[in-house]
Amino acid sequence: MVDEYIRIFDTTLRDGEQTPGVTLTSEDKLEIARQLDKLGVDTIEAGFPVASKGEAEAVRMIAKEGLTAEVCGLARVEKSDIDAALSSDVNCIHLFIATSDIHLNYKLKMSRQQALEKAIQGVEYAKKHGVKVEFSAEDATRTEPQVLKEFYRAVVDAGADRLDIPDTVGVSTPSRMAMLVREVKSVVDVPIAVHCHNDFGLAVANSIAAVEAGASEVHVTVNGLGERAGNASLEEVVMALHNLYMKKTKINTKLIYETSRLVSKLTGVIVQPNKAIVGDNAFGHESGIHTHGILSLPFTYEPLDPEVVGRTRWLQAGKHAGSHGIRAQLQEMGLSPNDEQLALIVSKVKELGDKGKTLTDSDVEAIARSVLKVPEENEKVLKLLDFAVMTGINVVPTASVKLDLDGRIYVASATGVGPVDAAVKAIQSVTEKVAKIFLKEYRLEALSGGSDAMAEVIVKVGDSMGNISSARGMGDDIVVASVEALIKGMNKILLKQKKMNNNTKIS
Ligand code: KIV
Ligand code: ZN
Repeated sequence: MVDEYIRIFDTTLRDGEQTPGVTLTSEDKLEIARQLDKLGVDTIEAGFPVASKGEAEAVRMIAKEGLTAEVCGLARVEKSDIDAALSSDVNCIHLFIATSDIHLNYKLKMSRQQALEKAIQGVEYAKKHGVKVEFSAEDATRTEPQVLKEFYRAVVDAGADRLDIPDTVGVSTPSRMAMLVREVKSVVDVPIAVHCHNDFGLAVANSIAAVEAGASEVHVTVNGLGERAGNASLEEVVMALHNLYMKKTKINTKLIYETSRLVSKLTGVIVQPNKAIVGDNAFGHESGIHTHGILSLPFTYEPLDPEVVGRTRWLQAGKHAGSHGIRAQLQEMGLSPNDEQLALIVSKVKELGDKGKTLTDSDVEAIARSVLKVPEENEKVLKLLDFAVMTGINVVPTASVKLDLDGRIYVASATGVGPVDAAVKAIQSVTEKVAKIFLKEYRLEALSGGSDAMAEVIVKVGDSMGNISSARGMGDDIVVASVEALIKGMNKILLKQKKMNNNTKIS
């Protein structure tokens, strides 16, 4: 193995699924596994087969899928666990037993010697069945280095192919992690991995420090999912390795964003906006100084080209906005104000920003059109022709829509948890034919009191390429205002996509 090549062991489907509140169906797991394989991870830890029948079935489905990645199942060093993993047809077993005194005394209630013997027996038993074995000493970072070395040496003698050093409760520091890797490497000659948890926000830094000290594999999860505060995030580790440490992985980085979106959708765990690489704001710019810099040379304020991770940059208008950013935003909308008009538009945008107003793309466009005295653009890829919704007690909320999508008429209906959800799903079932557009944010505010209050709905929508658009709907009917905002936002994305596709007709 070349020194610069780092294996990516993805545990989204195992440790990631241990995120509180997350459970995935077998179909969800299979869909994620296929995506991880496309992404280029080396190992997919598909689950913990002994945990339940459904889990074993899901792991088996993934193992039988014929993926390029190695498919691995987790097992304690117990015969029953190893048998469950073997029956799931995995080609690798991730075997573990705790080695720290605190786990031995309070959890396993076992002496160190007993644990060592079990570890050896477990590795020998798994190896007899012809699978690859990666061995983890759980809670390694709270185990004395001498003890750790004794375990690792013994399991390598028993046949373990790779070793993993887990920072189970995320208490390590980068220098300690590096020291442990060096210590372990000094007594064995097999590849070393690390598995870092993020309890102190150091999972990525600890993983990278381990690589610098000679680890050749990193355990990661998409979006940093995992027990408690999660594991080292795949996207951060990979992008840091490629860009800051000049290491190689097999990851096709252009698929990072769509993978993050898929995992977020199927797990229901929203990605925080300021999350590196995959957060909404990672490539968004508001301040005038930054947008000016970005527009003249993106590298001034973007350490990474968004396209490299399958995203696009976006500019946001607000009180920090500057004329360069607003001009660029308007140019995307096909509007070209002169300097005087631009100054007026910018001052109106700032005025609203100062009043604490969230400015959507449609708001900026409306301000510009009123200054330029240009009527609203007629080109709409998506038009709402008809809309009805049924809701009540003992009725499943159902919405029906008739839409014109790029010249074709579609009728669709969908059910949801409420009328707005049903309406969104009905519309998405039509737009899905040309593009996956997600509702990323939904805000509802009453502008006046009383049951006939005016409602204001602000939505943010996005697509798998990282295009983001915000729009507002207003009226005394919340559902209609929501649909209006959604259609406006979706139109912006569809138009952008249409322009990006060199004006080829969407079909
Ligand atoms: O965090 C941990 O220690 C684990 C083990 C199963 C390796 O997930
Ligand atoms: Zn873990």
